[in-house]
Formats: sequence, C-alpha cells, structure tokens
Amino acid sequence: MRALTVTPGVKNSIRLEDIDPPTPSSSQALLRLQEIGICGTDLDINQGFYGEAPPGSNYLVTGHESLAIVEKVPGSDHGISKGDLVVPTVRRPDSCMNCLNGESDMCLTGNYREHGIKRLHGFGAEFAVSDVDFLVKVPSKLADVAVLLEPMSVAEKGVYQAFKIQERMLWKPNRVLILGAGPVGLLTTYLLRLKGLEVVVTATRAKDSAKARLAQRAGAVYVNTMEQPLQSLGKFDLIMEETGSAQVAMQATSMLNTNGIMCFLGIYSSTTAPEDIGLFYKDVVLGNKTFFGSVNANINYFKMGLKDFAEIENRFDRILRDTISVRISPDEFQKAYAQNKDNIKTVIRFNN
Ligand code: BGC
Repeated sequence: MRALTVTPGVKNSIRLEDIDPPTPSSSQALLRLQEIGICGTDLDINQGFYGEAPPGSNYLVTGHESLAIVEKVPGSDHGISKGDLVVPTVRRPDSCMNCLNGESDMCLTGNYREHGIKRLHGFGAEFAVSDVDFLVKVPSKLADVAVLLEPMSVAEKGVYQAFKIQERMLWKPNRVLILGAGPVGLLTTYLLRLKGLEVVVTATRAKDSAKARLAQRAGAVYVNTMEQPLQSLGKFDLIMEETGSAQVAMQATSMLNTNGIMCFLGIYSSTTAPEDIGLFYKDVVLGNKTFFGSVNANINYFKMGLKDFAEIENRFDRILRDTISVRISPDEFQKAYAQNKDNIKTVIRFNN
C-alpha cells in the first residue's frame, strides 16, 4: 500500500512509498484512510526536530489528524462496526495513574505513544490500525470537515481546562485574546464565539487574508500585528497562545486582566528574554493570574469537538468547510510540506 513515511531525525525525508499493509492485533480495528490533515508537528517531524519510529522500524508512517472508514473490527461489543466513519485519537496510554484513568493526555511518565509522532505508525497510508476503543464515530453529515476533529480536540482541551481551573473563584470572562490564526487558533475562535465571548485574534497576515476573513466571519475582531502593536489591544480575561512563538507569548503575559488565565498551546523552542521577571511575578501575585500549558487531548475532547462542530457549521455558515483550504492527492504531498503561510489547512485524500 502507499504510505507517507519519514526517517525520524533526518531532515526532508518525507516520501511516498510502498509498504506492507498493517495487521490489526486482537484489540485493534483496521482502518481504510480517507483523509489526513497536515499540521506544524508534521512539518517539524519532516525537519528532523521531532518524531520517533516504532521499535524495530527504521521509518515512521506520518499523519495524526485523520478520517477513516472501519474495514475490520475485533468483536461486536465496542459500538464500532465495519463501514463506520471514524476519527482515531492520537495518543495511547502507558500504565501511569492518569493513563489508567482515561487521561493519557495527562500522562505522568512521558512513556505514552502517539500515532504518527512517537513510536506508533500514523494514519498517512491507505490502511492503518488503531485500538478500537480510541475511535470516535463521526456522523456522515460531518464527513467533509471531520478531518479537523483532532486539531479541534486540542482547542477543546485548552478551553475546557481554562474554565475548569477558573472554578477557583467567581469568574465571568468577557474579552478573549487568541494569539495566532493557524487552524487551532481559528478553531478556538469558533469555539469561543459559540460561547458568546468577545474575541480578538492576532496574526501577521493582512486583514483581507483568508485567515482574517474566517476569524471575522465567526464574529471575532482580527488584528494584523504588523500594522497594530499587540500591546495596544488592552487587557483580556483569557489569552490562548497558539503561535508557538516564545516572544509573542512573553509580550502577551502583561495583557492579562486581574484574575485572568493564559493557556500555552505551542511547542516553543529555546529563547532567552531580557524581561524583568521580578515585576512579572509581582503582577502574577497581585492579580491572581494563572498560566498553564496544555498538550494533546483524550477521547472526551474529541467527543466535545464533534458536538460543537455541528453547531459551528450551523452558526457560522459552513465555516469549517472553508477552513480546509486545499485537498490534494498523496502524489502531491510535497505541496503540503512546502510552507505557505496563506494556506490554512492542507488535507491529503487517500481514498476517493
Ligand atoms: C498533536 C498532539 C500531540 C502533540 C505533541 C500535536 O500536533 O495534535 O496530539 O500530543 O502534537 O506530540
């Protein structure tokens, strides 16, 4: 079968090759892939910065954002049948207490595995396998947007956790700042607009760019920080950092309102900053401010995302459909790996 593979640690090793189809174990379903989405993590893996092959393999099948049709299931008691449209979650647990509690996204040891990222082959192939209990069934009316469910699960987790943490007091947020208008930034925008919050989205694209127009269509204010400085935007009750830029993140920390909360969702690289950390800590203490990080998402967040998808499509006139900027065939995979900042989400279709 055709598969998109990389040699982890080797720059630009992404290729389309012919490999043997996988054989499912007694707890796994065999999946016929429909689509995969390409994100920043996939680009980082192809840069050689990230990613680990399964034990005994010298390559990694890439792809962790996906949509598939179930080809074969073990037994009949999992609520999943042959022919179902599904999205598999990414992470698989180890045996730490959080993983055993269904929260592999909160894994304590770091010994989790992630499809297409860490020690498990991904979904960028004609066929793949996944533990059957980690599949989310998708209604056919969401078939054209469900490949966005994995990035949506990341947005859902960040937002859910922020509100959960803020149960520490009476908290009625009004203004939200979303740093970054990539797919996760946009999906977070739709979600928070659904909750009725006032949302400002910042990025470095022009005001008439596709990203800006999507943010505006969901009722958010879009600011191009090349034209208007971040610091001029005032204070916010909730800040979602989705640029992955440590500099942007640092600048925004002073824009949090009293009792506010800021969520970090990027994978940051080493950056030193000259900021006055003494004043920063004082501001954190005197303003009861909270900063937290969030990674990955367990199956519950995928289920939340699916529910919100239906509402988002209704409320914002099929905005999810338009968040997928281009669908290409596996042979054209290089297009997905060429950085084009005006592209929002590139999807590779495996089966037509
Ligand atoms: C994925 C997460 C994963 C993270 C780190 C992200 O791109 O969406 O599921 O946990 O990368 O590997």
